[in-house]
Amino acid sequence: MDLSFDEFGHGDPVILLHAFPLSRTMWKPSIESLVSRGYRVIAPDMRGFGNSSIAESDYSVDDMANDVERILTSLEIEKAVVCGLSMGGYVAFSLYRNSPELFRALILCDTTCAADSTEKRATRFSMIEEIAAAGVSTLVKKMLPNLISENTKANNPALLERLGKEISHTSKTGIIGALRAMALRADSCGLLQQIDIPTLLVFGELDQVTNLDAALEMSGNISRSQLAVIPGAGHFSNLENPGAFNESLRKFLYSLEGQD
Ligand code: MLT
Repeated sequence: MDLSFDEFGHGDPVILLHAFPLSRTMWKPSIESLVSRGYRVIAPDMRGFGNSSIAESDYSVDDMANDVERILTSLEIEKAVVCGLSMGGYVAFSLYRNSPELFRALILCDTTCAADSTEKRATRFSMIEEIAAAGVSTLVKKMLPNLISENTKANNPALLERLGKEISHTSKTGIIGALRAMALRADSCGLLQQIDIPTLLVFGELDQVTNLDAALEMSGNISRSQLAVIPGAGHFSNLENPGAFNESLRKFLYSLEGQD
């Protein structure tokens, strides 16, 4: 299986793990900001997304985390700031569970430590059936509108259109594989109290998928955490308000300097 990733800049490594059903390209505005501030940025495509191929058989979120670890090993990176948005956050939790020594710091964006409820799992499996029968346009119609805030839809309709086009070109097998992996992922809430590295939680003010209550609960259980709320943004906070998102990362990364 071929894993594709972008690598830009020099300096302390920051790895950016994308959301479902997007690809590494969702990080473009953050990559530019981080590279201009002197960081080395690595943004992989999870298996089945972007230019990464997909395994023939079923796989798990842990397999996706192992993919990320393989990329870090191939680049001889021993420690990185790991940042994941939503599905990327699930992958970050899994990576932390198996290899906490790889983390210099953690950034969790619009994500949750909780496994799927029985109801959510059932919704994912019926979505898989619909996508298998009718194609990925189902996802564009049924899921995408909930991911972006009403504020963004009104002020930046081009973003919704662009994401819709990108998702329409995503592999059906990749989308089904990731839906299945997310449905069956382990609960990571028990891990929170073990996370002893600086952690930033970044949440869109209007995120309806993983809301601020979940953020506050996670923040309360991670000893060295802080929370940044991104005004006007929904679930894709980095794309909906890149200025505020990048500024929250800048402040957090700056606070790490001199801490090692
Ligand atoms: C994502 O943005 O990655 C998805 O909303 C994750 C999920 O469906 O649980």
